[in-house]
Amino acid sequence: MSDQAGGYAEYRFTAEFYDHLIPYSTRGDIAFFVEMAQASGGAVLEVGCGTGRVLIPTARAGVEIVGLDLSPFMLAICRENLAPEPPEVQARVRVVEGDMRAFDLEREFALITLPFRPFQHLTTVEDQMACLRTIHRHLAPGGRLVLDLFNPSIIYLAAPQRLEEYEDIPQFTMPDGRRVARFARITARDYFNQIQDVDLIYTVTHPDGRQERLVHSFPMRYLFRFEAEHLLARCGFAVEALYGDYDKSPYGSKYPGELIFVAAKT
Ligand SMILES: C[S@@+](CC[C@H](N)C(=O)[O-])C[C@H]1O[C@@H](n2cnc3c(N)ncnc32)[C@H](O)[C@@H]1O
Repeated sequence: MSDQAGGYAEYRFTAEFYDHLIPYSTRGDIAFFVEMAQASGGAVLEVGCGTGRVLIPTARAGVEIVGLDLSPFMLAICRENLAPEPPEVQARVRVVEGDMRAFDLEREFALITLPFRPFQHLTTVEDQMACLRTIHRHLAPGGRLVLDLFNPSIIYLAAPQRLEEYEDIPQFTMPDGRRVARFARITARDYFNQIQDVDLIYTVTHPDGRQERLVHSFPMRYLFRFEAEHLLARCGFAVEALYGDYDKSPYGSKYPGELIFVAAKT
């Protein structure tokens, strides 16, 4: 297992802003994951559950769910978000700090999901396989995995504009009055290992006028469709469905779209 669980997994600055970031809070994937969870007929594990954006609506829908994440900062926000939920919702949730490449929850699940691309934080095939094999061990016979990736756009991967800092989301104000602007930039592209180094830059203006610049830097690996299919097959999964979006439109119906696998444990 490579030791790359540093900055990207920490989400130190991103954690407190995460639920205020418009493209995250308005992502159209929640109904998809909640329906998959309900259809599974059993308990669900969300790997890389973050602040509970998908986890909490799943528990509200009556499904027992365990959330695993490596970032204590994301999990702290998740626990805060859970606290005001009714006791019966809270009772359906367990949140665990752990690394998706090596965890042991000593139980099996009907469904394991990785919403919003946590898997792409893994930058080597060794780590990807360690994660998929760990997931495989935690699936009940006939259990399913939903692997949610972005479909790499050849155009974006090469676009020179992304190398310059650009404002990628609307500005917002935190409940304590801090005004936050966010910028993004690709700082390096490794075409051989399919890795982009990303900087997410938060410019924070405090109510007293003081300014801060917080930078969350992490590598992100992209996977192409057939590469992911081979990887899943190597780790004991059979692909049952491949979607290009959370409305279940087929892969390839739009470009780039998403790369969402539903795979069964074989
Ligand atoms: C983009 S967030 C997605 C959070 C959540 N699933 C959602 O849909 O909003 C990716 C999450 O993966 C977590 N993560 C990154 N590397 C991880 C690892 N090795 N093991 C477990 N979680 C990890 C991060 O801490 C972060 O919370």
